Amino acid sequence: MRMRLDRYLADLGCGTRSQVKKDIAGGLAAVNGVTVKRPEEKIDTEKDQVTYNGRTVTYEKYEYYMLNKPAGTVTATEDRMDMTVMDLLKDQRRKGLFPVGRLDKDTEGLLLITNDGEMAHRLLSPRKHVDKVYYADVQGKVTEKDVLIFAEGVDIGDDRLTMPAELQILESGDISRICLTIREGRFHQVKRMFHAVGKEVIYLKRLQMGPLVLDQELMPGEYRKLTKEEVDSLC
Ligand code: URA
Repeated sequence: MRMRLDRYLADLGCGTRSQVKKDIAGGLAAVNGVTVKRPEEKIDTEKDQVTYNGRTVTYEKYEYYMLNKPAGTVTATEDRMDMTVMDLLKDQRRKGLFPVGRLDKDTEGLLLITNDGEMAHRLLSPRKHVDKVYYADVQGKVTEKDVLIFAEGVDIGDDRLTMPAELQILESGDISRICLTIREGRFHQVKRMFHAVGKEVIYLKRLQMGPLVLDQELMPGEYRKLTKEEVDSLC
């Protein structure tokens, strides 16, 4: 694809359009090793090698990041009150990035952030029934009866029951530890399912979404690019 140098640098998050224009005029950008001072210079995104401030800036149409969302952040691109998940990707100012799906403010764990709208649509489409796996601490004794109820579908006050979900009890007690696989993404779904059987989720973390598994090396608030294998598995 051919595009203007200033747009290329701005789209890839090097700065605002006016900032990069100034920097280009000031000699901070080079194409194939030659300094270019005209912001309107056309470059070929596939062939040309662009550097900005001495750093190579490679064009990738789509970018994919795995974030371990910490509690206390909102899943939005902007918010006037709270820190958003996008604020955590401080080095990634690429235009058009957004979080795929939504986790509650107090939920932690796997969140995919991308600029690939088609992939996001495939993962979120209610007709695709992509598996989502959660770990939770639950106030109250989770029992085999709950496993059966969750497998049948739970009345959470919507017009229809939830789809069959797999509940695995890791520890049952005053505070129970569980893993739950659901195939929908209804509002507060996990919390409402436990609420429907008289229990309360006190900690929630998403571990998996479709084939994508949360990297255990990522501390809450940390992120990394998806590997090629991970991107291929999602495609
Ligand atoms: N279910 C919930 O209740 N909350 C989330 O954040 C995700 C799933």
